[in-house]
Amino acid sequence: MAAIRELPTTPVSKFERIGAHTHIKGLGLDENLKAVKIKDGMVGQEKAREAAGLVVKMIKEGKLSGKCIILAGPPGTGKTAIAVAVSKELGENVPFIQMSGSEIYSTERKKTEVLIEAIRKCIGVEIHEMRKVYEGEVTMVDIRTAPHPYNPYQKVPESVRLTLKTREEEKTIEAGTSIAQQIIAEGISEGHVIQIDAETGRVANLGLCLESQKGKTYDVDTRRKIPRPNGKVLKEKEFVYMLTLADLDELNARQRSGGLFSLFFGGSESKEIDTEVRMAVDQQVKEWVDSGKAFIHPGVLFIDDAHLLDLEAFSFLGRAMESELVPIIILATNRGVARIRGTDIRSPLGFPVDLIDRSVIIATQPYDLESIKEILRIRASEEKIKLDKDALEKLAEVGSKSSMRYAVQLLSLAAQNAKSSSRDKITVEDVQRVDELFMDVSEAAEYLRKYEEKLMVH
Ligand SMILES: Nc1ncnc2c1ncn2[C@@H]1O[C@H](COP(=O)(O)OP(=O)(O)OP(=O)(O)O)[C@@H](O)[C@H]1O
Ligand SMILES: [Mg+2]
Repeated sequence: MAAIRELPTTPVSKFERIGAHTHIKGLGLDENLKAVKIKDGMVGQEKAREAAGLVVKMIKEGKLSGKCIILAGPPGTGKTAIAVAVSKELGENVPFIQMSGSEIYSTERKKTEVLIEAIRKCIGVEIHEMRKVYEGEVTMVDIRTAPHPYNPYQKVPESVRLTLKTREEEKTIEAGTSIAQQIIAEGISEGHVIQIDAETGRVANLGLCLESQKGKTYDVDTRRKIPRPNGKVLKEKEFVYMLTLADLDELNARQRSGGLFSLFFGGSESKEIDTEVRMAVDQQVKEWVDSGKAFIHPGVLFIDDAHLLDLEAFSFLGRAMESELVPIIILATNRGVARIRGTDIRSPLGFPVDLIDRSVIIATQPYDLESIKEILRIRASEEKIKLDKDALEKLAEVGSKSSMRYAVQLLSLAAQNAKSSSRDKITVEDVQRVDELFMDVSEAAEYLRKYEEKLMVH
C-alpha cells in the first residue's frame, strides 16, 4: 500500500505585523465603491480608499496580474493601514504577504532569494484531484484481532470487515491492519459516514449519518450530522487543495532530499530551495493548469517601507513582474525625491523611474484635526483605553503637529502612565507627561543637532 500523503490544510500563511492596525476591518466602502467617511475602522482619506477599492475589484477579477501599485504619502497618513484593509477585502482565498523592505537584508540568504520566496508564497494554486474512495454509512464493523507477535497476551487489530451503505447500494469490504487501526483511533462505529482512500488507505470520519439510528436518537451528539451519501460505495470523487507555489517547492524539495541521511535525521534542513526544484514545480503546475487540474490564484505581495530596497532588489522585482507566475506587488513609501539605495541616483520616492513608470500610484494626504481625533478615538476603543475630552484634544494636536503614528504610540504610553498611578482614564496630564518623556522624529533630530559635537561618533 502506498504511503499516505498529507497535504497542509492551512493554505496560506498569513502573518501580519500590525499591532497598530488591529482596528482596520476593511476599506469602508459602500456598494458603489464610494468611501463612507467613517466605516470598518477607517476614517477620511477617501480618495486613496476608493482607489484601493478599485484595485481590490480588479485583483478579484484577475485583471491586475503582474502590475505594481505604489502607495505614496507622508509618514502616518495610513499607507500601511490601507494595505492591511486591502488584505481584509481580498478575503481568505487570495494569498497576501506583508514584509518590510529591510527584510531582504540577511546574512544567511541572498536578497533575491528572500524576494523569490515571498513572491512564491503569494501565488495560490488550487489543485483538483480525482481520487477513488469508498464512502458510505457504516452499518457493520467487525474488527478481528490477533495476538501481538512479541507479546501473545496482548491483542492487536489484524483486519476489519466493514459494511458501507449509500442511497444506492450496500457493500461489505475487508481491509488490513492499517485501516483497522485507523477505524479504532477515529472511534468509528455504526452510524458514522466514512471515507477510505482506495489508494492510500487513509480513513476519514465525516460525521454522523442523519438517517442512522444514532443520528436520530442522540440529539446532543456534538459531531457533525450529514446525510447518507449518494451513488455507489466505490466512486471517483473530486478533492480540492489550496496550496501556494512555495508550499509545492517545499514538498518537492523534501521529497528530493531523501536518502540515508533523512532516514536518521529526518531530512536535511536546507535554507534555500534550489532553482531546479522551482523549475520542476513551475513545469508541473503549468501541466496541471493546461490539463484543467489546477487553477492559479495570484495574490498580493505588500512591501512596506519599500525605499529600503536597493537597486538590485528593484531590478529583480522589475524582471519578476514580466514573468508568467507573478503576484500583484504593492510598494509603500514615505520618501519624496530620494536617493535610490545602493546608488547615487536621486529619483522620485527613491524608486527607479522605469518602475514608477509601470505602476499605478495611490497618494495619501495628511489628516485634518477632526479625522485625527476620530482615528485616535477608534484606536482608544480598540485598545480598551478610556480618555477624557482634553486628553483627546491634546493627543490630536500632537498628531497634527508631529505624526499620526507618534500620536497612536503616545496613546498607549499615556494609558500606561495612567495605569501606573492607578487610574483607568487618561487625562491631559498623562499625555503631556509622556510627550515630554519621549521624542518624535523632529525632536530627535533637533536634539541631535544641538548636541552633535558632544555625542560620540564612533
Ligand atoms: N484613514 C485611517 N483610518 C483609521 N486609522 C488610520 C487611518 N490612517 C492611519 N490610521 C492609523 O494611524 C496609524 C498610523 O498610520 P500608518 O502606520 O498606516 O501610516 P503610514 O502611512 O504607513 O506611515 P509610515 O510612512 O510612517 O509608514 C496607524 O495606527 C493606522 O492604523
Ligand atoms: Mg507604514
